[in-house]
Amino acid sequence: MKRATTAIAWMLTPLVIIMTPAATEARGGDVAAGKAVYERLCTYCHGPKGEGDGPAGSLSGVPTGDLSNKAYMSQLSDQEIHDRIAWGEERFPYLQMPGWRANLSDEEIWNVVAYIRTLEVDKGPLTTPSPKEREKRFRSDPLERGRIYYLRYCSGCHGKTGNGDGEGARNLPHPPARLSDPKVAARLSVESVKHYLIEQERRGEREMPVFEDTFRDKIGDIVLYIKTLANTK
Ligand code: HEC
Ligand code: HEC
Repeated sequence: MKRATTAIAWMLTPLVIIMTPAATEARGGDVAAGKAVYERLCTYCHGPKGEGDGPAGSLSGVPTGDLSNKAYMSQLSDQEIHDRIAWGEERFPYLQMPGWRANLSDEEIWNVVAYIRTLEVDKGPLTTPSPKEREKRFRSDPLERGRIYYLRYCSGCHGKTGNGDGEGARNLPHPPARLSDPKVAARLSVESVKHYLIEQERRGEREMPVFEDTFRDKIGDIVLYIKTLANTK
């Protein structure tokens, strides 16, 4: 009996989601409570006004974006902002931010959405790609994926342009390879980089992190992007 009710509840769930307007319309979160969450967890990257100028704004190598730009943010529904905060890169890999589901309750996420809405300022028409365009480009363009992954996972040491001057490399005993040097770039292949990043055993003198096996799928795109860094020299 119990099992049957559960099965019915399951079958009804999609209908309920489609029929409940709250799932897509604005949800009234508590702005003051959202502000407290924002100041505790978000300001240090997104900045006090959401402009992306927090002290750790470029920590991940990818610029944090501007949550206060009305023309951009108005293209996202409250639900879409909620989902981006909750799931982050797990569901929206074009945005390199880990999701906050593990740290925040659903109510807290709705509160922070309500607060983010108060940060929006009219800065004129949109001059950068819209959220939909960014998502589409990420899915269809391997070079764009490679660029984002490179900035996120490699630029901290190898530098934004590949010249080895990343912040994270300052105190390393060996400097990182200059991936933008045409001679280095010429000998890199998807296979050699895979081997170097994942398969090679950690040697005592190695400063390069060993990446998890799940990183394998990203390497083709990253190598494609690294090769373009050398071409500009
Ligand atoms: C370690 C830095 C960091 C922290 C802390 C952080 N974010 Fe982010 N956030 C990012 C980055 C990087 C992106 C991706 C920006 C981009 O690609 O435009 C992002 C994207 C977002 C987006 C999506 C914007 C868009 O263009 O769709 C939202 C919304 C957001 N963050 C909200 C939050 C909230 C709320 C918190 C606090 C609970 C938070 N972030 C904490 C770095 C951070
Ligand atoms: C923590 C800093 C750090 C990060 C992050 C990092 N690297 Fe490195 N990398 C180094 C250092 C230092 C070297 C020089 C050799 C060594 O110490 O292992 C190096 C060497 C390399 C080499 C060898 C080049 C050659 O001469 O053959 C490749 C390829 C490489 N890195 C690719 C990457 C890629 C791709 C990423 C991102 C997915 C990445 N690295 C992230 C520090 C880093």
